[in-house]
Order: sequence, then C-alpha cells, then structure tokens
Amino acid sequence: MKLWSGRFSSDTDALVDELNASIMFDKRLYKEDIAGSVAHAKMLGDQGIIEKTEAKKIITALSDILKDIEEGHFEFKLADEDIHMSIETELTKRIGDTGKRLHTARSRNDQVALDFRMYLINEIEIIRGGALNLISVLLQIAEKNTATIMPAYTHLQRAQPTTFAHYMMAYTSMLRRDVTRLEDCLERMDEMPLGSGALTGTTYPIDRKSVADTLGFARITENSLDGVSDRDYALELLSDLSIMMMHLSRFSEEIILWCSWEFRFVELSDAYSTGSSIMPQKKNPDIAELVRGKTGRVYGSLMGLLTVMKALPLAYNKDMQEDKEQVFDAVDTVKKVLPVFAAMLATMTVKPDNMRKAASEGYINATDCADYLVKKGMPFRDAYTVIGKLVHHCMECGKTLETLPIETYKTFSPLFENDVYEAVKLETCVELRNVPGGPSSKSVKAQMDNIKMFLDES
Ligand code: ARG
Repeated sequence: MKLWSGRFSSDTDALVDELNASIMFDKRLYKEDIAGSVAHAKMLGDQGIIEKTEAKKIITALSDILKDIEEGHFEFKLADEDIHMSIETELTKRIGDTGKRLHTARSRNDQVALDFRMYLINEIEIIRGGALNLISVLLQIAEKNTATIMPAYTHLQRAQPTTFAHYMMAYTSMLRRDVTRLEDCLERMDEMPLGSGALTGTTYPIDRKSVADTLGFARITENSLDGVSDRDYALELLSDLSIMMMHLSRFSEEIILWCSWEFRFVELSDAYSTGSSIMPQKKNPDIAELVRGKTGRVYGSLMGLLTVMKALPLAYNKDMQEDKEQVFDAVDTVKKVLPVFAAMLATMTVKPDNMRKAASEGYINATDCADYLVKKGMPFRDAYTVIGKLVHHCMECGKTLETLPIETYKTFSPLFENDVYEAVKLETCVELRNVPGGPSSKSVKAQMDNIKMFLDES
C-alpha cells in the first residue's frame, strides 16, 4: 500500500507506477537521504516535537538501514516509488509507529531538494579534484617544454611562433576558471532547504539552522516556495560542466589534429589509443574523440534541464523529477572523462622536431621581421607592407626569411642589415615576446609560478 493512498479508493495503474517512480535512478541519493533524515529526527527530538527517545530509535534504525544498503542487503522496490518513501517504508517496517513520526514537519519536496544539493556538493568536490589534477599534469608538460618551439595558429593558419609550454599554460588558464566557477557554484549551492515543507514551511517549532549545522551547510534557504522549486544550483553546475567540457573538447580537437600525419606534433601512448578493425596501420585518438563527443552529451543535459524548468509555475511540480537523470549523467560523464584525459596527456610523447619543422615553414616570423624595421625607425604600417612584398618574393623564389640573402633584403629596404637574421630566428621571436602572458621563457615561468601557487592554495 502506498504511503499516500489514504485519499485514493483504487490502485494506480501499473504503467503509471512505472512512469511515476524515480527509485531506479534516485536510489543513488540513499546516503544523503538518510543523513538528512537523521538530522531532521535529531532536531525534532531536540525541539520536543517528538520524544527524544523516539528520535534516538529512528536514528539508530536509519543507521542500520544505511549499513544494510551499503552491504547490498536492501531491496529497492518500484512500488516504493522513490528513495524517500523507500527508506521511510523500511524504517516503519523495522520500528513500527515511531518510524511514522519521522515525516513530521517535512515533505518529499524539501527532502529531495536537500538530498540533491548534498549529493551535488559532494560531486563538485570530486570534479574539482579531477580538474586540479589535470592542471598539474599540464604544468608538468609545460615545465619540460619551455624551449619547445611550435607554431601558434589563427584561422588554423600558422601565425606566430610560440612554445609548447606556452600552449599548455593556455589550457591551465581555462581549467583554472573552470575550477573557480565550480567553487562559485558550490558557494551558492551551500543552502539547506529542509523546513520549506511542501511549499509554505510548517507550523511546528522547527529549528532549521540547527539542521543546517548538523549537515554542514553554510546557510538555510531564504524562502520556502523557492526552497522547493529552485533547481538553479543544478543548472549552474550543468553550465559550469558544459563550459569545462567545451574546453576539453577544444583541447581534444587539437590532440586529434596533432596526432595526424599532417601534424605529428604528439603521439599518444598505446594505452590511450585504439586500432582499426580493418586498417592495420591505424592508431586512433579515440579518447580525445570521445571527450569531444561527450561534450554534446553534457550540453544535452543542460538544455534538457533548462527546458524542463522553463515556464514551471511555483512551487514543486513533478516535471522536476526529470532533473536527476540529466544531472547524474553529466556528472558521471565529467568524472569519467577527467582522469582519462589527464592520463592520456601525461603519457603522450611530444615531438619537438616536428613542431620545430612546422614552425620553420609558413613565414611565422614575418611580424618579427616587420618589427625589426620598426625598431630601425620605420612606421609599423609601412614595415607591414614591405614585409608583405618580401614574403611574396620569398614564396616565389622558394626562400625563407632565414635564407634570403642580405642583398635581396636590402632591395626591399636599406634599413636591413646582417642582424636581421638574428631578429627572425624563431628563438628570438619567442624570447622577445617578453610581455606578461607571452611565450618567452621568463613570461611562461611567471605563468607557471602563478598556477603552482593556485594549486598549492587549492
Ligand atoms: N521523486 C520526487 C522527485 O524526484 C520526489 C519529490 C516528490 N514530491 C511530490 N510531491 N510528489 O522530484
């Protein structure tokens, strides 16, 4: 018999039960549900709403149920509908009428809001740890590659020289924002909704603050209608995860390109690649491709939940039960992706020679050649035009800025002297880009120091 069957004169249809039930997926909230119930029971006892001895009995039985679930001795039944009723039913089965007192001054609406927040707070910590670990892997790669020259691209066209360290540090900046975004999200999520009741609170003299303290929340939610109908925290987390996945997807795209024979900038270890069932020569970057693909899946969760919440009137509506699968899937995906992605990078072989070769072609030192003339007194726009013509000439006669004879240089501008060769050397181009944020070894070292400090403080 259903806990809420009093008002009903006939049973619900079996198909309704199946559609209505959430136990198949919300059973993973068992720990949070029990912790919330324990805190609630304790408060009810302390406030004299139920007898202290009854509160104790409830708490002991709940701890036993928790143990049984963890040891696999608990059967989750579809008939119990959801995790909240499943545990309450079992409690009453075990301790009789006392168990029936637990739900005093509480509703499943504030219960589920509590469980979901508690669960996600925990998951955020795990994801945050995964992102920090990825940052430290990138830092290690950067440390080994401060002198590894490679081309940097705009429009995927070779643009200017940089180093692989500088490149890796760009991704640490992105991931650092991801980490701090999660921290911001956590800060706002840290509110305890119990006491909102079904939607307008309760007439019992409850102590919401003490429940929040017992459960380790920073604050209680402000308004009971909002307390049960708010899913912003889940949406915010999904947004944060979507942005993080977007970053990983961009990175994946680069890895996939870099693994191609056209680039060959890196080679993934066998442990993080896969083969083809037909083409014996193939070594495919499937992990990077899957991360790129799973990004769509996480975006899907965000769009899914935004759409569920759109136009819902206050307060709780059953539509909101659709929140959990979306969020669980996104959280599971990101948790699975982060460690594999980090390990794939940690075991990847960098190919400095191939990077250097790519950087030597494509006139990526042309800006520096123009800057050379500017330093000799020519206005930048004029220098830009001169170098444009010079590059055009080089392309026609198959020369590079490094190999063009000085006599030819001089026909484009009398300002050219022998020191131009030093100016267009890739090392010079990189080292002179000494601005904060730039690729010079000094600038990259400062970026690495900052990230190290961030990691130490995190
Ligand atoms: N299983 C429900 C959910 O996930 C719990 C809240 C049910 N509340 C209700 N009034 N039916 O949203």
